[in-house]
Amino acid sequence: MDPEGARNPVFRVGLLISMPPLSAPSRQATGTVDAAARQAGFLGTGSFVPEGRLTNADLEAMVDTSDAWILERTGIRERRKAGSGLTASMMGAEAGRRAMAAAGVSTVDAIIVATCTGDSRIPSTACLVQRSLGLDGVAAFDINAACSGFLYGLILSRSLIATGAAETVLLIGSEALTTYIDYTDRSTCVLFGDGAGAVVVGAVAAGGVRAVRWAASGANSDLIYYGPKDGEPDTMNAMRMAGKGTFRMAVERLTEVASDVCADAGWRAEDIDLVVPHQANLRIMEAVTKRLGVPMERVMVNIDRMGNTSAASIPVAMAEAADTSRVRNGDRVLLMAFGSGVTWGAVALEWTGQPA
Ligand code: UT7
Repeated sequence: MDPEGARNPVFRVGLLISMPPLSAPSRQATGTVDAAARQAGFLGTGSFVPEGRLTNADLEAMVDTSDAWILERTGIRERRKAGSGLTASMMGAEAGRRAMAAAGVSTVDAIIVATCTGDSRIPSTACLVQRSLGLDGVAAFDINAACSGFLYGLILSRSLIATGAAETVLLIGSEALTTYIDYTDRSTCVLFGDGAGAVVVGAVAAGGVRAVRWAASGANSDLIYYGPKDGEPDTMNAMRMAGKGTFRMAVERLTEVASDVCADAGWRAEDIDLVVPHQANLRIMEAVTKRLGVPMERVMVNIDRMGNTSAASIPVAMAEAADTSRVRNGDRVLLMAFGSGVTWGAVALEWTGQPA
């Protein structure tokens, strides 16, 4: 498995020079409800996370870190780690199987897998999921928008349903991130975990997606990348992140995009029943929701047990919210994510995923 190869240092220098100030106003593509179009909502959710746990104590034994530092700076206590041989397609297929069972459907019209840690460059992880689910003939493809991948996939699924290109889409976020980690790099190795979450998206008579916003800034692609350590070309290829810059930009962009999507949907802070944010850092979730005026009791948090699972984090958290009745049909749910690219987005939806 060699997903990206070494990064090109010349290219990176160019990016650094052209990087705009973080506070520059962002552009976002938007979409609100077109009353004439078919509405898309969730028909069922599911997740799969590996049994293996990597605790902060385990990491203390591997690298110069401490449980206190990790907990205070990130909110993470443990993360899941797939054993060798357990791939993104395997986890994704199991999450997809569970979402389809919850939705009561035996087939779908398309399978989209959001992942940046797929089994191989080709074929797509979605095609491997399709094979595992026995859904030969169903359209299948991957998208890579890193931690925003699930939201990008949801926005795409909604469009497929609105245009009639699909009646149902199995949308999966699946990541085998721990195979992309340099366990000598304490600034990243404590953050990431493995897992998969899935939803069946389909046409709904009421509720569903109300408004979407998505955006990207390739000018800031140096913030999170796969490659050797910055300035150390002999180090291994792995997930790398400029933590502080990413943190600052994530808080700014998430606050902005979440406010905008709520305005598009006509929601005030008090209208939101549940926020399901990408689980990158508890302090990011706290900072953004405080700025939005939503109390933490209405924020779904599982980063303490899952770490950051990139594209899987929102669907894994949503499946947990559904399974524990933290979300019910008709609830107004705000989803938001920020990740490598950099990419970000938000979706306002009325929950429809509870079986009738
Ligand atoms: O999912 C995609 C989006 N991801 C994000 O949005 C994540 C954004 N960033 C973050 O969550 C945080 O920046 C981190 C958790 C990655 C880092 O937290 P921080 O509070 O920004 O710490 P820092 O990078 O500024 O480092 C502070 C200190 C440094 O030591 P010195 O230079 O002050 O002596 C680091 O070397 O903490 C040190 N440090 C650690 N110490 C113990 C960095 N990592 C560790 C560690 N254990 N694991």
